[in-house]
Amino acid sequence: MLSQIPLLASIVAIARATVVYYPPAQSKINNLTFALNGTGAPGIFTSSTVPDKDYGEYNWCNMPHVRTREYKTPSSDFTLEYVEVIQRHHKRTPYSSNTFFKEDITWSCTGEGAVHYGKGPSGVSSDVTEIQWQAYSNSQNPWTASVGPGFVNTTCQLPQITADGLVDSHTHGADLRAVYASRLGLGSRLDPSVAQIRVTNNDITSQVAGALVKGLFPETDNLAVLIQSSTYDSLEPVYSCPTADSIRSAYTSGSSNWTTHLTDAASLYAKLDSVSGIATQDTGGWHTSFDHYYDNMSAKLCAQKKLPCSLNDTSLCVTQDEANTVFRLGNWEYSYYFRDAPDSALYSSLHYGAWFLELRAHLAAAVAGQSKIKYFHNIAHDGSVSPVLGFLQISNMVWPGMGSEVVFELYESKKRNAHFLRVLWGGQPMVTSTPMGTLDMIPVDTFLEYIDSMIGSGAELFTACNS
Ligand SMILES: *[C@@H]1O[C@H](CO)[C@@H](O)[C@H](O)[C@H]1NC(C)=O
Ligand SMILES: *[C@@H]1O[C@H](CO)[C@@H](O)[C@H](O)[C@H]1NC(C)=O
Ligand SMILES: *[C@@H]1O[C@H](CO)[C@@H](O)[C@H](O)[C@H]1NC(C)=O
Ligand SMILES: *[C@@H]1O[C@H](CO)[C@@H](O)[C@H](O)[C@H]1NC(C)=O
Ligand SMILES: *[C@@H]1O[C@H](CO)[C@@H](O)[C@H](O)[C@H]1NC(C)=O
Ligand SMILES: *[C@@H]1O[C@H](CO)[C@@H](O)[C@H](O)[C@H]1NC(C)=O
Repeated sequence: MLSQIPLLASIVAIARATVVYYPPAQSKINNLTFALNGTGAPGIFTSSTVPDKDYGEYNWCNMPHVRTREYKTPSSDFTLEYVEVIQRHHKRTPYSSNTFFKEDITWSCTGEGAVHYGKGPSGVSSDVTEIQWQAYSNSQNPWTASVGPGFVNTTCQLPQITADGLVDSHTHGADLRAVYASRLGLGSRLDPSVAQIRVTNNDITSQVAGALVKGLFPETDNLAVLIQSSTYDSLEPVYSCPTADSIRSAYTSGSSNWTTHLTDAASLYAKLDSVSGIATQDTGGWHTSFDHYYDNMSAKLCAQKKLPCSLNDTSLCVTQDEANTVFRLGNWEYSYYFRDAPDSALYSSLHYGAWFLELRAHLAAAVAGQSKIKYFHNIAHDGSVSPVLGFLQISNMVWPGMGSEVVFELYESKKRNAHFLRVLWGGQPMVTSTPMGTLDMIPVDTFLEYIDSMIGSGAELFTACNS
């Protein structure tokens, strides 16, 4: 073991020669005293709706995105040439790994299941019946009782986008259409030579795509969406990068900077465990971060379900204050993972570098006039949007909620004979801690050079991941 330590250090040193870490701003989100001992929820956690006057506020259930009402059109010197969007999927049931052994509420998805079927190009093979999944269990199968029932008799295949999450996806698409269709000359039917949609191997991103595309390109009936191999997809991402994994373990489970907040939260954990029945020494990850409790409770609140009570003692319930503390701690954790830990920028550069190389090529092709593609939309996860924010070294990190969106807008100025980039987070120019500052009409070359400084070439990224 000892011989491996200097090896890892030298790899990190090589990569550090290019990656420069710029610490985030100090805010309530990354203040551990506030997370542990403060009060209130760090945003909206109970509804997808935000009044217009507050739009832009953090809403875990439905994060702010580009809309006509808040959109700022640059001066007429600038022409929009290319737009690339990356978003998290919309609201869903919890993951089954984040459900308690047995839940005290029911959750039905009857009539709102994911649709799955094969379809040929023409003739009988193309004329098929739409097939929707409906989860069920049968006690005749002796393995049924070997796992917790979770939500008893549920018809949900966990996780799945809820019907309300599909409504949010449709609205998201329609809002983007209202801003970009006229500016980019997009038709009401998606033309794959001009616009493309990309999903991950996790089915929930395709569930979002169906509703989003109906809002974005309302006359599209059938669509082929892009998806990379589940062995190396850069969007989710799932490509193998052992160096990134070691770096992250070193600054989380291997660092008191991380573990302190878990020990400090012992009394909160004791209360949550007494309600859920989850063992203090569990192996399911309930005590290595607040992720599971956060997802468990936020998914319920966004679906207008109540906070959990113990099945054994129905008067023992998680209080709203306790849930708010979990939500503050969850946001503190994401700020730590992706911004506060000094190695977080290096981590994001390795873990999400492949996607940034693809983005870089899309931008370069658009600048060079070598591509007809005007609009590219990636539907992904919090595990995708977070390293995008980490890579760009956003000034104020949060845990990206449902539907969170980053938009890369490429403009041309004929007057200056140059291209410029604007990056929107929650619909507004992103403020970073890097020398690029706010990403609002920066020279596109500055941005491409930043990507190069973080990754180097594809071959260098591959080597850095695997050495
Ligand atoms: C939170 O409050 C407790 C009790 O007052 C205190 O012991 C602890 O140090 C505080 N935690 C932080 C991180 O400030
Ligand atoms: C962190 O939050 C605590 C409690 O709200 C506050 O007293 C303290 O000044 C904050 N620290 C920083 C660095 O902002
Ligand atoms: C929340 O946790 C409870 C108890 O562990 C579990 O039964 C339930 O399915 C979980 N719910 C969600 C939405 O994760
Ligand atoms: C679940 O289904 C079983 C078998 O149909 C039924 O006996 C039981 O009452 C149901 N439980 C709930 C909570 O709906
Ligand atoms: C822990 O935090 C300190 C202060 O920010 C920092 O210097 C150190 O590198 C961190 N250690 C790890 C493993 O992240
Ligand atoms: C309820 O009590 C049983 C028996 O003591 C125990 O096995 C189970 O974990 C408890 N469930 C919860 C949610 O506390």
